[in-house]
Amino acid sequence: MTLSAAPALQLLDSRLEVSGGLKLSGELRVSGAKNSALVLMAACLLSRDTLRLRNVPPLTDITAMGEILAALGVQVTRQGDCIDLDGEHITQAAPPYELVNSLRASFFCIGPLLARMGTAQVPLPGGCQIGSRPVVEHVKGLKTLGAQVTIEHGVVTASVPGRSKRLRGGHIHLDCPSVGATETLMMAAALADGETVIDNAALEPEVIDLARLLNAMGGRVRGAGTPTIVINGVPTLHEADYAVIPDRIEAGTFLLAAAITRSSLTVGPVIPEHLGAVLTKLDEAGCRMVQEGTNLRISAESIQAFDLRTMPFPGFPTDLQAPFMSLLATANGTSVVVETIFENRLQHVAELQRMGASIRLQGNTACIEGVARLSGAPVRGTDLRASAAMVLAGLAADGVTTVRGLEFLDRGYANLEGKLNAVGARIRRLSDPA
Ligand code: UD1
Repeated sequence: MTLSAAPALQLLDSRLEVSGGLKLSGELRVSGAKNSALVLMAACLLSRDTLRLRNVPPLTDITAMGEILAALGVQVTRQGDCIDLDGEHITQAAPPYELVNSLRASFFCIGPLLARMGTAQVPLPGGCQIGSRPVVEHVKGLKTLGAQVTIEHGVVTASVPGRSKRLRGGHIHLDCPSVGATETLMMAAALADGETVIDNAALEPEVIDLARLLNAMGGRVRGAGTPTIVINGVPTLHEADYAVIPDRIEAGTFLLAAAITRSSLTVGPVIPEHLGAVLTKLDEAGCRMVQEGTNLRISAESIQAFDLRTMPFPGFPTDLQAPFMSLLATANGTSVVVETIFENRLQHVAELQRMGASIRLQGNTACIEGVARLSGAPVRGTDLRASAAMVLAGLAADGVTTVRGLEFLDRGYANLEGKLNAVGARIRRLSDPA
């Protein structure tokens, strides 16, 4: 019976119908950060005690990560935005390919599995819609910590030689400040013998969140948020009760919802330091922003063109490049956007052009001439953030925009249409047999 039910589900034509041109007003609540929650969940593998995470967003990626951890033997209990992860009985050091395949972040398991069990077998995450996304830096770093690593038949097999099965501290210099590599190596080093130094570490807020969690579990991590992170390994880590930071990318998307509809909205909770480059650009565009406690109030009347170049934190985040391009498509004047992080992250340009945007593309550079109105059209989000960009463009367009590619959107936005509808948008989710 279940065999016939599964293919039928895959054939559903799910889409959002966004009616454009409406002003928004009110307050948008920001969920916990997806990218933080995913890595913090993997950290439960480091301890035999229960990790309680709060402010975990209700996303399909979080469900997938829970399933992967459960397959390894973690007892996962989810209630609202709180997840308990009991890692006492890890029975497996090899997450199954079928589950891993659906979620790149599952590669986060390799560091903690290796640190705790002395062995890990994790399928290579492979590329995705936005680029090839190598894991060279992760593997090099694990080797520096004493692991033997081989990659065969698409699976990374890592083990710690010797009787103790414990990794040993080492000095790692990352060739590029990879967020994933920094996080993987922090988790691996947390239980290693001795001191690990990670140079040229990523500075992203999610890295700091992981350091805070590890320290709450009894780890000894300092320097997170600077290019040099020092981790003194400890023999064991213990239980913790920890709240995930607010999602800076969802917050940025909501600020853009106000800007693109030339409306006023209150967005929160936000940590303004996490949004530095984003707020600078919105300010350049002519938006007014006022901080009210943990909220930001944004008002937009007209939007001036501006240039942006994606960079590692504290530079402008690649995850908001597509959503910002929707705004720039409606700005007064000409803007230049350069994507420097991922080689294939401009696929939304063709979709925005379908909506009447005037964009010329050359390599990783887009030249956008703002138009007075976008026009609603059927479009497809080609990755998670591109899907959000399509919804934003739809909010501003004349008529109805039908957005497909919701399997991406639902990975990173908790009930986006519900939240936007509550502040005056008109978005319908439709799901028919294809
Ligand atoms: C994380 C985020 C993702 C965000 C990205 C960049 C999570 C779950 N995902 O992805 O949303 O878009 O940071 O801010 O947190 N690179 C190498 N070699 C490596 C590893 C990376 O060359 O071994 C390069 C990548 O090709 C890319 C750049 O480094 O050009 C940044 O990648 P990285 O920081 O690793 O991104 P992720 O951690 O995968």
